Amino acid sequence: MAAKGKRFRICRWQRGRGRRLAEHLGYPGDVLDRLPAGAIESFAGVGYFFDLANLNQGETVVDMGSGSGMDVFFAALRVGLAGSVIGIDFTVEQLKKARRLAAEAGFLLAVKT
Ligand SMILES: C[S@@+](CC[C@H](N)C(=O)[O-])C[C@H]1O[C@@H](n2cnc3c(N)ncnc32)[C@H](O)[C@@H]1O
Repeated sequence: MAAKGKRFRICRWQRGRGRRLAEHLGYPGDVLDRLPAGAIESFAGVGYFFDLANLNQGETVVDMGSGSGMDVFFAALRVGLAGSVIGIDFTVEQLKKARRLAAEAGFLLAVKT
């Protein structure tokens, strides 16, 4: 992946989870403020990749290993209503939580099992 000139931080060890970890990795706090709190609290990612992806309105994003959805919600705000985000995970409980959070937060949801 070409990352020249881009800020890129990967966590070598787990600094807990949730908002503290997300901010440590580089997620902007003002965007985190707009995401479902339950998705942030379960976040256990290893890096911040959105400054590499440069997502635009109307694009389609696939998050492989989407967990309880923090990155899916984050990407959804970037691609907007004209775009779509597909979260894939093999942990049923994570998918259930992500779907519940999406419904509660008013994200448009299409469920495929
Ligand atoms: C670090 S978490 C993802 C964090 C997520 N991006 C977020 O925003 O919270 C990794 C996830 O990948 C899933 N996973 C790992 N290997 C997988 C595979 N082969 N197929 C589908 N999901 C996988 C795990 O179930 C776990 O939920």
